[in-house]
Amino acid sequence: MCGIVGYIGKRQVLPILIKGLKRLEYRGYDSAGVAFFHQEEIKLQKSVGRIQELEKKLDYSLSSHIGIGHTRWATHGKVTIMNSHPHQIGKITIVHNGIIENYLTLKKELESKGYLFQTETDTEVACALIDWIKKNNSSLKMVDVLNEAMKKLKGSYAIVVMVQDEQDKLYVMKKESPLVIGIGKEEYFVASDFSAYLDDTKDYIILEDNEIGVTSMDNVSIYQNGILKDYVVKTLNEEVEIATKGEQEHYMMKEIKEQSQLIQKWNTLYFDQKEKLPDITSYQRIHIVACGTAYHAGLIGKYLLEKNTDFEVNVYVASEYRYQKNFLDKNTLVIAISQSGETADTLACVKMAKEKGATTLGIINVYNSSIARVVDFVIYTHAGCEVAVASTKAYTSQVYVLGLLALEYQSKKEKKNTYQELPVKINKLMEYDYSTIVKHLYQKKDIFYLGRNIDYVSMLEGSLKLKEITYIHSESFPAGELKHGPISLIEEDTPVIALITHEETAAKTISNIKEVKARGAYVVLIIEDGIVDSIDKNCYDEVIYLPKTDEYTCPILSIIPLQLIAYYTAKKKNLDIDKPRNLAKSVTVE
Ligand code: AGP
Ligand code: GLU
Repeated sequence: MCGIVGYIGKRQVLPILIKGLKRLEYRGYDSAGVAFFHQEEIKLQKSVGRIQELEKKLDYSLSSHIGIGHTRWATHGKVTIMNSHPHQIGKITIVHNGIIENYLTLKKELESKGYLFQTETDTEVACALIDWIKKNNSSLKMVDVLNEAMKKLKGSYAIVVMVQDEQDKLYVMKKESPLVIGIGKEEYFVASDFSAYLDDTKDYIILEDNEIGVTSMDNVSIYQNGILKDYVVKTLNEEVEIATKGEQEHYMMKEIKEQSQLIQKWNTLYFDQKEKLPDITSYQRIHIVACGTAYHAGLIGKYLLEKNTDFEVNVYVASEYRYQKNFLDKNTLVIAISQSGETADTLACVKMAKEKGATTLGIINVYNSSIARVVDFVIYTHAGCEVAVASTKAYTSQVYVLGLLALEYQSKKEKKNTYQELPVKINKLMEYDYSTIVKHLYQKKDIFYLGRNIDYVSMLEGSLKLKEITYIHSESFPAGELKHGPISLIEEDTPVIALITHEETAAKTISNIKEVKARGAYVVLIIEDGIVDSIDKNCYDEVIYLPKTDEYTCPILSIIPLQLIAYYTAKKKNLDIDKPRNLAKSVTVE
């Protein structure tokens, strides 16, 4: 959550801050702000809404070479100018990503010392704390002030600090929220991730937890516990890209379309990585942990692994896994799935699993991300930069990798490449005309998704896509469960989307569709071609045929029409598809 940037160098700071903020806008887009030194004074500018709103307020004629910026995803306090960052108290100005968990206790202490707070944020408290420590310890160097502040702050934070008396420096501090320092020629960049300044530098220091960094015009130093330490400069390779929309109106459509081209790339790349995998057969338990869409990919992985190998696999929502009995020990393999590699809940599970002696394997999209760096083994999913908040190609890449894992360890030893024909089949589904279906859906309040077994999991993901970008309430039910309660929700014209890709359950699911149809539902049936001899035309209103496929590729194919239905429905409603309300792409708070 929240994107933070900073710059110190010879160039004018404002265009650089704005460029970085635009690239990090996927992390949060409630409000934005910048602070910069201009003629020995710190100037602040903030606005509610997108970066464009902030840009309109900026006076680019104000010369400055050092500044910080923030794009917010509010955790503490409403989306207002007052609550947006940077926050300033006394001589200290900061931007913050994360949550200060003990902010109320600290706030009380600081209020008793005379501080008056103007915002509802935890960030303003951190700012006051730094100011208080500095004011009352005049002999302390700023690094030591920040070190003292770190001892008092609980929670997660990446903070960039400007100090009124030190106009040639930016300070950064980090715990559990990502932060990198980019090294250019006589200039330094600070950002929540590499994507902010990829075209300016490929050389980065990745800050570790509890480290403090100091950048000046010509130097960078890293401290831990107040002691100067060595650092490693990492040079990114060409695999990291700056995403563009190309000809598409939205990143989401571009990313849906890319799925067919990516299949070939994935096949070759996976086999390059194979020898770096742990020996899965040596573990007693496999646990998959993930959130949201990645969790759904994990459920598909469970299905594919259990069906084709002798492993028992359990899948957990990461935010729950940490707080339940989980049998973690050296005989457990924990597979963490994450597009961003920054999801705080998933990262926390990986750290906990490692502490308890389990082996950890990450299935990650973003190179060098926090989870990728922490796990024992990593398989990169190579989906490329995914910008739209609603995940599409990252999901199919995760499902693809899990399918290959199942193929790798399958008990029947016939290995076939089932993936070759997928691109053509995906393109066929892209060409389908979804307009009649969309016309029926876009004004509805509730939409239901049905499926059995692996189809139910695909429907969980289809339903999530729809609610994320259309704001229509939707739920996915196992088709057989409907009659145990949820069928009471079906009224005349309630949309029900059903998915059938497996012969053994087809007849049963068709009966369930008839049950909702009998109660007035508008039924969209997505069914694999040739799976049943003939379907009663009265049991659906619209039908989409999925090209015939096998169990590994079927979940990849099934999700395409569901992604497209969500996309076109959101488009019909004229919504901000790439940046849906209240969401952020990278969820770095727990
Ligand atoms: C996907 O459409 C969602 N925006 C969200 O559920 C996402 O999948 C989840 O937050 C996990 O993110 P990650 O894959 O980056 O860990
Ligand atoms: N807690 C801070 C706020 O609400 C930062 C939020 C974040 O990083 O997500 O403003």
